[in-house]
Amino acid sequence: MTNGSDSRTDSISQILPWTFFSPDHEKARFWVHYGLVIAGFILAVITYLSQAFKPAPYGKHDNTKSSKCRVPQRIAHVGADGVLGVIGFSLIYFLLGEHFDEAENIVMYCLFELHYLHRGLIHPLITRYSDKTVPLLIPLGTFLPNALYFFINADWIGSTHYYRGYYYDPRFIIGVILFVVGYIINRASDWKLRSLRTKSGEQGYQIPHGLLFNYISCPNYLGEMIEWGGWTILTWSLAGLVWWLFTCATFVARSRHNLQWYREHFIEYPHHRKALIPFLY
Ligand SMILES: NC(=O)c1ccc[n+]([C@@H]2O[C@H](COP(=O)([O-])OP(=O)(O)OC[C@H]3O[C@@H](n4cnc5c(N)ncnc54)[C@H](OP(=O)(O)O)[C@@H]3O)[C@@H](O)[C@H]2O)c1
Repeated sequence: MTNGSDSRTDSISQILPWTFFSPDHEKARFWVHYGLVIAGFILAVITYLSQAFKPAPYGKHDNTKSSKCRVPQRIAHVGADGVLGVIGFSLIYFLLGEHFDEAENIVMYCLFELHYLHRGLIHPLITRYSDKTVPLLIPLGTFLPNALYFFINADWIGSTHYYRGYYYDPRFIIGVILFVVGYIINRASDWKLRSLRTKSGEQGYQIPHGLLFNYISCPNYLGEMIEWGGWTILTWSLAGLVWWLFTCATFVARSRHNLQWYREHFIEYPHHRKALIPFLY
């Protein structure tokens, strides 16, 4: 680790509220981490470019139903999000981390797990999917990026020492608030979508109304985008930033396809509704 001072009096310490592996003393660890961060940035750009033209084939945009290469949908989501988000993330955090027992890091760990315990385990089990199966491409396309981004984020929060008193830093406070606000929006919106179907196996779609659905097509995506934006500010890390960029790449592209899908399938779909950001996009 770099020899950071906890008094945080110099200006660099105020810009970077942490110490991480140094390129001089822990070369391999430093370059593995930042090499993967660069890979994460490139993957975010590729994801946007590919999904902007063609949405990932699941749910409303699944036109591969006759394909044989399909797997059970609930198991696919638990495997790609739950196993990696809960078990994989925890293993890296506790086994590779050198600062996993510090209070600020524990708060970050708990927030990440708050999201993934729900998204990876509860959400796939309670969601009323229109199809029991999904193309194998979907869990594969989730699993591989998740492995990369979860590794660098768990590595970061496990191995970074935040200065004493970071609790009171505006980055910590604003980051936590944004994460929680985004989480609530994400949860409330996903719940609203679930309530549009009364039982599992129902296949129909309806126009959602209420909450942020009155303004945009995909408030669940907006909520998650706010969450990871908060995470980036809270962790003040490039690992957090490239993960946020990757989620934005997915949500910006897919929300546009979803809005177009609603307009094509419902003549009465409110014209003023945007895709992802009220009044703007
Ligand atoms: N971190 C990431 O990169 C990432 C990427 C994607 C999603 N996510 C998160 O995963 C969660 C689910 O995402 P998703 O893309 O699956 O969301 P979604 O397309 O909105 O679908 C969620 C569920 O609601 C149903 N649904 C959607 N619109 C409906 C409507 N108009 N009428 C009736 N039912 C409707 C879907 O039916 P079908 O079964 O027919 O699809 C599905 O069961 C969200 O919280 C999202 O933020 C995260």
